Amino acid sequence: MKVGVPTEVKTDEYRVALTPAGVRELVDAGHAVYVQSGAGEGSAISDEAYVAQGATIVPDADAVFGEAGMIVKVKEPQLEEIARLKPHHTLFTYLHLAADEALTHGLMESGATCIAYETVEDARGRLPLLAPMSEVAGKIATQAGAFMLEKPLGGRGILLGGVPGVAAANVIVIGGGVVGMNAAFIAVGMEATVYVYDRNIDRLRELDIAFGGRADTCFASTLQIEERLPDADLVIGAVLVHGAKAPHVITREQLGLMKRQAVLVDVSIDQGGCFETSHPTTHSDPTYEVDGITHYCVANMPGAVPITSTYALTNATMPFVVDLATRGVHDAVANNPGLKLGVNVAAGEVTYAPVADAVGLQPVDVDTALAGVPAGA
Ligand SMILES: NC(=O)c1ccc[n+]([C@@H]2O[C@H](COP(=O)([O-])OP(=O)(O)OC[C@H]3O[C@@H](n4cnc5c(N)ncnc54)[C@H](O)[C@@H]3O)[C@@H](O)[C@H]2O)c1
Repeated sequence: MKVGVPTEVKTDEYRVALTPAGVRELVDAGHAVYVQSGAGEGSAISDEAYVAQGATIVPDADAVFGEAGMIVKVKEPQLEEIARLKPHHTLFTYLHLAADEALTHGLMESGATCIAYETVEDARGRLPLLAPMSEVAGKIATQAGAFMLEKPLGGRGILLGGVPGVAAANVIVIGGGVVGMNAAFIAVGMEATVYVYDRNIDRLRELDIAFGGRADTCFASTLQIEERLPDADLVIGAVLVHGAKAPHVITREQLGLMKRQAVLVDVSIDQGGCFETSHPTTHSDPTYEVDGITHYCVANMPGAVPITSTYALTNATMPFVVDLATRGVHDAVANNPGLKLGVNVAAGEVTYAPVADAVGLQPVDVDTALAGVPAGA
């Protein structure tokens, strides 16, 4: 298989989908790897480091898409990239389609087989390719929230951990999964007063043990969240219903219950956002204000720390990349039910039900759709 790695083109995105370690694994397995010149630069990986492990450097994205049958990326394809996708391509990357109808239609029209990192599952129903970036995003969420609470940045002007004689800030984390747990751990480490909300009671039990009393766990009913909002300095939204559009856990009306210049960090923004007033922002311009509440809604938070994120991501994706390249998409998917769940679009059809539901289409069975994918893809 010919595997291609383009430079990421989303605003402020510095990660790359394959490291020299990944090139080595693929080349040792008999594959050819085409890396766009400069693709690793943002993550401090030189072209020479890829070449040393057997990659071929090509000058531009056209050459990557032209040479390769399988394209590995980090972020969802941008317009110029969708235009390069053909039916023989297998695209392996984050997609977050439930939040993006236009992208869904673009990928359907391309005819490519599009496998989303964020819906691949392991044998226990967890999300092994989302988890490493959720760990990073969770940790950044608290750092960013603490920073945005500073007065010169438009925040309330409160220090997360307080000082002797002055109370700490109150941090509310809604959604206690991978993002939420990591966000809460950093908040606890900064000595804030922390409350973690979730609707899954078993998850709350696990968190209760993990925090050992250093954070309170709470059931995420509308009323219980509403009752806590007047005390909140920082609210981190981190809910996820696998592959689906995020539910709104704070409405615009409820902003009125909060202190002015409190901060909302919506990590779930890549799935459409879990606060009614959220819309995606970038690292260059990360916040905006609604009704006196600062909103931070950066859709690619881990992109800000590429040296950590690139390695965390590729450690998790690499075995799947090698398997897809070695078996081809039909065989790889047939052999791994968790990978099969990653197939969101194939042969012009949406194959992942929560995405189809979010964009108003009928899902098509993965095997039926894959039957229309050219052999050898
Ligand atoms: N913005 C970014 O850069 C970035 C980076 C990584 C992950 N994310 C996103 O962060 C979100 C969370 O990811 P994760 O890996 O922690 O997911 P996860 O599945 O590990 O955790 C989600 C949690 O939300 C809980 N939940 C679902 N509905 C809820 C509700 N109505 N109220 C309260 N809790 C609810 C679930 O029980 C679960 O514990 C996802 O949308 C993911 O795509 C964003």
